[in-house]
Parts: sequence; C-alpha cells; structure tokens
Amino acid sequence: MPGILDLIKSRKSVRKYSEKHIPDEDLRQILEAGRLAPSWMNVQSWKFILIKSRGNKDLLSKLSIGQAHVKNADALIVCIGDMNAWEEAKITHINNPALNPALQGENGLLVRTMEQVIFAVSYMMLEAESLGVKSCIIGALGNEITGVESETYREVKTKLGIGENEILSTIITLGYETEPSGTGKVRKDFDAVISLEKNGNKF
Ligand SMILES: Cc1cc2nc3c(=O)[nH]c(=O)nc-3n(C[C@H](O)[C@H](O)[C@H](O)COP(=O)(O)O)c2cc1C
Repeated sequence: MPGILDLIKSRKSVRKYSEKHIPDEDLRQILEAGRLAPSWMNVQSWKFILIKSRGNKDLLSKLSIGQAHVKNADALIVCIGDMNAWEEAKITHINNPALNPALQGENGLLVRTMEQVIFAVSYMMLEAESLGVKSCIIGALGNEITGVESETYREVKTKLGIGENEILSTIITLGYETEPSGTGKVRKDFDAVISLEKNGNKF
C-alpha cells in the first residue's frame, strides 16, 4: 500500500489517454475524496459535475482553448466554485474578517472560494492516482475570471446547469495512461522554497 508521499511523487500531469474506461465505482471514489476535503468554516464552496459524454467533452475542450486532452480524456470532473455557499457565514456572529472569509469583500470571497475548490481538486487527483487513474488539472479556460471564450462559457453554464454565483474554476481530466513514463518532476530545490524560522535559512 503506497503512502501519501509515494502517491504525490508518482502523480504527474498526463495528457494522453488510452481507450479504457474508468469504472463508475472508481469515479465515485474519486469524487468522494473531493466531497470530504477540508474547507474554511466547513463552507464546502464547491460542486462537481462528472462528464462522460462526447458532446460535453467537446464543448469543454472548446472552453479550454481547444486543449486536446479535455476532448480525449475518459472522464472529466468540472469543479465549480459556489459563491452562494458563504451566505450562512455572512450572518454568523463571527464579525472579524480574519476569522470569517464571508466578510473579506468581493475579491476576498472569490479568492477564498477558489482556495477551497483547489483543496478538493488535490484530494481527487491523489485519490485518482491511488486507483491508477491519471489526471491533469485544466485552469486555462474561459470563465468569469479570465473573461475569454465568453460565448462558449455561457453555453457551458446553460448546458451543465451552472447557476448564479457559481464559477467553473477547474476541470480535471481523467483516464489511463497509454504507456507508463517516468515521473518527470521538475521542481525547485528543497532549499530554494523551504526554510527554518526565517526565509533563506536552511532546514
Ligand atoms: C491551477 C493549475 C492549472 C493548470 N492548468 C493547466 C492547463 O490548462 N492545461 C494543462 O495541460 N496543464 C495545466 N496544469 C498542469 C501543470 O502544467 C502541471 O501541474 C505542472 O507543469 C507540473 O507538472 P506535473 O503536474 O506533471 O507535476 C495546471 C496546473 C495547475 C495547478
């Protein structure tokens, strides 16, 4: 049984997939990992839409500036930031913005909503990896933040039933690798990003 760090090391962005289908049971398990992710004040400001149909994959590839792996993945998880999720937090007695993101203004709320979604995305990617399912995060797409592909985005929102104050933030592509390759991790050195007590002090 691999540990979490083993999964983190083996996970990599895979952009070419075989024809093999992912069992529904495994897709459920991946989505469950997202549902169980942590969030600030347990706000769970996310929604996930599983996509398997050719038509929706093509439409979402168009939204992602034509990225081929969005079209060719076996399944996609559309991750939505739900800005409505903070409504309850807005009316709690916690009136310090540092403690309550609902009071951090419009930009703050957007950042916080996306922040929560990304935890869920990470959980789902690692769960996929544990099941031998490869993935890639798609952030290059049209939405309220990038302002591109606005017509396609409108079409996507209608077709997928994405409502008011809900932002399509990320797509996760899922599938089996055509041929296993190395981990290919290119990362900054440990000492370049990790310090002890003070930035730049070696741990
Ligand atoms: C927020 C975010 C958005 C990304 N958007 C895209 C994307 O639109 N298309 C793509 O092919 N890869 C995308 N990636 C994948 C990165 O390019 C990849 O994670 C990075 O190069 C490191 O490689 P690795 O995932 O194989 O370790 C994205 C990653 C993150 C975290």
